[in-house]
Formats: sequence, structure tokens, C-alpha cells
Amino acid sequence: MKNALVIGATSGIGKELSKLLTTDGYKVVITGRRENLLQEIKATDPEKYVVKVQDVTDLKSCETLFSDLKNELKTIDLIVYSSGVGDPNYQLEWEKELPTLQTNVISAVKIYGLAYNFFREQGYGHLVGISSIASIRGNRHVPAYFASKAFQANYLESLWMKGKRSKADIFVTDIQPGFVDTSMAIGKTFWMASTEKATKQIFSAIKKKKKKAYITKRWALVAFVLKFLPASLLYKFAT
Ligand SMILES: NC(=O)c1ccc[n+]([C@@H]2O[C@H](COP(=O)([O-])OP(=O)(O)OC[C@H]3O[C@@H](n4cnc5c(N)ncnc54)[C@H](OP(=O)(O)O)[C@@H]3O)[C@@H](O)[C@H]2O)c1
Repeated sequence: MKNALVIGATSGIGKELSKLLTTDGYKVVITGRRENLLQEIKATDPEKYVVKVQDVTDLKSCETLFSDLKNELKTIDLIVYSSGVGDPNYQLEWEKELPTLQTNVISAVKIYGLAYNFFREQGYGHLVGISSIASIRGNRHVPAYFASKAFQANYLESLWMKGKRSKADIFVTDIQPGFVDTSMAIGKTFWMASTEKATKQIFSAIKKKKKKAYITKRWALVAFVLKFLPASLLYKFAT
């Protein structure tokens, strides 16, 4: 049986992806802070899920998680970092920016590094990060979130290059969703994909070991335009 670790699996994309992975024959270690939600997921298929309650901003506990899993599972084939936070911050309040930086930047790097080195030691593995279409340009309402996603995308590309050059068989995938209807989405908006549809496409991109995937696929068009749109227009039209 293959083993997967999904960090941030209590809700949304991480939860739905974990379900797809169990149906694909994986044993899935699910993590997050809300233990009751993790236990509810495990109860749906107790043999397939392993629960680890963990806050990624507790960096020491990230190390403990990996050393425990090495002892308990021996090998991990796939690691997905789906934890993420981000709120609009019109007044640039530090208290609102900090959790975004801690979860999406500091803890992401901590987990990416632990995962990459775990794979290097075992000789193979697939790391998946969920950045965002937000990684492409800035946004005046949610600056820390957009910048944190740019950081993740850039870091994941670096690890992808590193994996390509490595003697070990390491793949890295950057998933860039547009709008997905999870608790993170702020209200209804255009091109909002259901969690199920978005996650099916993420699952397919993982199976194909893609370097980068826009979710849903039509967001590739937005990404293309955003990359070339002059800032003088972006600041007028971007919400
Ligand atoms: N929904 C969208 O439109 C969209 C678009 C682009 C990118 N994304 C990205 O997709 C990823 C998943 O988000 P989602 O849409 O599925 O939202 P979600 O349902 O809110 O899921 C976020 C997950 O992150 C976990 N998390 C947050 N802080 C954590 C912490 N300190 N320690 C451990 N886990 C933590 C949450 O678990 P606990 O709260 O239980 O800890 C939860 O499982 C995020 O990285 C997000 O930025 C989402």
C-alpha cells in the first residue's frame, strides 16, 4: 500500500483530496488543528486514514510529525501541503498579516524542506504544494496572502529544479487554483469551482506528475493575461 501525508486535511481541498487518495489505494495521514474534524474523516474509512493533530506554526511539532511517520510508516510516497490562511487586510494590521506569513511562508518552507529531505533519504517521492493564481500578481486588499503565494510558487519551482537534478526520484508539483468553493473563498464569485471538481483536477495533475497545474484548467487563460497585464491597468481593474 502507498502512503500519503496531507497537511491541512480537516476541510476543503485537503479533505477532498485525501478521500480521492484513499480510493486510489493510499493510506492517508491527515493533519490539521481541528481534531474532531479529523476523527470524523477517519470514521468514514478507519483502515485508510491515520490522524495526526498538528499546528504547522509549531515548527518543532513539524519535525516530530516527520520522525514519528518515519518510525510508523517507514516510507511516504506523496506529501501534500494544503494548509493555508489569508484574510483581506485593508488597514495593514500586523496581527492579520502575521498568521498568513507564519502558515503560508515559514511553515510551508519547514514542511517542504522536511518532505524534500525525507524523499532524498528514501530515494523517491512526490511533493505537492498548493499555491494559487494569486501567486502571479499583487493585490491591494490581501497583500500578505498574494505575496505568500508568490513565495510558495517560486520556492516550489526551485524544489522542482532541485528534484530534476537529484539522484533521487523526486517530483514537485505546484497547484495553482483560481476560486474554489471552500471556507477560504470569500463569497460567491465568477468561475468558482466546486471543491469536488477542483480536487478531481488536482488529483489528475498529481497522477500525471505535472510541474504546475491551473485549477480549474480555464484559469490558465487568466494566468496568461495576468503575466502580461501592465501594472497601470492591473491597479485600475483588479478587485
Ligand atoms: N479556496 C480557494 O479559492 C483557493 C484558491 C487558491 C488557493 N487555495 C489554497 O488551497 C489551500 C487549501 O485551502 P482551502 O481552500 O481548502 O481552504 P480551507 O478549507 O480553509 O482549508 C485550509 C486548511 O488549512 C489548515 N490550516 C490552516 N492553518 C493551519 C495551521 N496553523 N496548522 C495546520 N493546518 C492549518 C486547516 O486546518 P485547521 O484549521 O483544522 O488547522 C484546513 O484544513 C490553501 O493553501 C489555500 O491558500 C485556495
